[in-house]
Amino acid sequence: MPASFELTEEERLIQQTAHDFANDRIVPIAAENDRRGTFPKEILKEMADLGFMSMLIPEDYGGVGLGNFSLVLVLEEINRGCASTGVTMSVHNSLASSPIIRYGSDEIKKKFLPKMATGELLGAYALSEAGSGSDAASLQCRATKDGDFYVLNGTKSWITTGAEADVFVVMVRTNPKERSKGISSFVVESDTPGFSIGKKENKLGLRASSTVQLVFEDARVPARQILGKEGEGFKIAMETLDGGRIGIAAQAVGIAKASLDASVGYANEREQFGKKIGSFQAIQWKLADMATSIDAARLLMYRAARLRDAGKPHTQEAAMAKLFASEMSNRAAREAVQIHGGAGYLKDFPVERYYRDARITEIYEGTSEIHRIVISRNLTKN
Ligand code: CAA
Repeated sequence: MPASFELTEEERLIQQTAHDFANDRIVPIAAENDRRGTFPKEILKEMADLGFMSMLIPEDYGGVGLGNFSLVLVLEEINRGCASTGVTMSVHNSLASSPIIRYGSDEIKKKFLPKMATGELLGAYALSEAGSGSDAASLQCRATKDGDFYVLNGTKSWITTGAEADVFVVMVRTNPKERSKGISSFVVESDTPGFSIGKKENKLGLRASSTVQLVFEDARVPARQILGKEGEGFKIAMETLDGGRIGIAAQAVGIAKASLDASVGYANEREQFGKKIGSFQAIQWKLADMATSIDAARLLMYRAARLRDAGKPHTQEAAMAKLFASEMSNRAAREAVQIHGGAGYLKDFPVERYYRDARITEIYEGTSEIHRIVISRNLTKN
């Protein structure tokens, strides 16, 4: 369990439930799912039964509505077991259900949220395109109004959970004369005629999670499935990412904690020069640095989640948590491989998976470079 922190009784219980679930149901299958590239569908159903897929969905819409702080407690534990399962949970909660909760009409909320809460519908988020990654506001996918519908055309790239999701929050251009203000957000169902899955990517890590292209060819989406108003889509996308980035911080912390646990276990077992390697200061210092930086990242993550729950500004704090946690996680996973030596390079031990999985946390939901821009812009704005 994470180092002690003043949690409420309810939060402690949620954390313990997620901890036990990760150990019992996720850890045993994570390596095999990674090797085979198997999407953890059955596990997600069990997670929905525990409320893990409806952490932000209000009870009125069938969710547990516990908020972002409880969400990160659970996400850290799930990601400690399997980062592919963790990102699926994070995207579903923070990037798909959250904007529907915050910006959907009551009709849209009633249509989608109860089924997203039970896990019957899985959510995803589609912002990036081949030509617009970090420069998200330059996206080119188009939506043109046609009576009670918008007609979508274009291709989205690198969409997490895209192959399995049923409901997508999709950002498209409704006004080509504007930049960020020409973008709108829609909820799009996977069975919409004209919508299809394109290329499935072959990745370094997160191999039990799909990453695909989404192709829109005259896909007709009901106009009432817009989130907010026409032209508000970029702000919705950014505000949604403020929450998502806290979730990726939790993923990074979870991977780092798994790296530390494996390293402590190995240091207490492996003998060289007639002693446990954990008795050597070279190894002790690595473990101490890992544990200290994990706690620092976790505290940044807790702060950002609390601010988001309180409805207070948190763009900068979310960026700091994600930036620090993701870079920390990569260092921790690297050290875990180093502590394991030759064994760490083998598929027989989990640390090579942590090393591969950690890498994406510095890239998706905003690269480290973008987060430094977000933080420094906040520091220098008048
Ligand atoms: N909340 C609310 N509004 C925001 C905002 C936020 N966090 N950030 C920006 N905005 C608003 C601004 O206030 C501005 O509004 P006004 O014009 O009314 O002032 C508008 O949005 C445009 O903002 P900027 O001028 O700052 O826009 P920009 O083009 O300079 O871009 C950026 C800013 C920070 C670089 C942004 O493009 C960005 O975050 N890029 C990274 C994209 C990203 O994170 N992609 C991740 C893809 S999703 C993913 O990875 C999911 C997955 O697979 C798991």
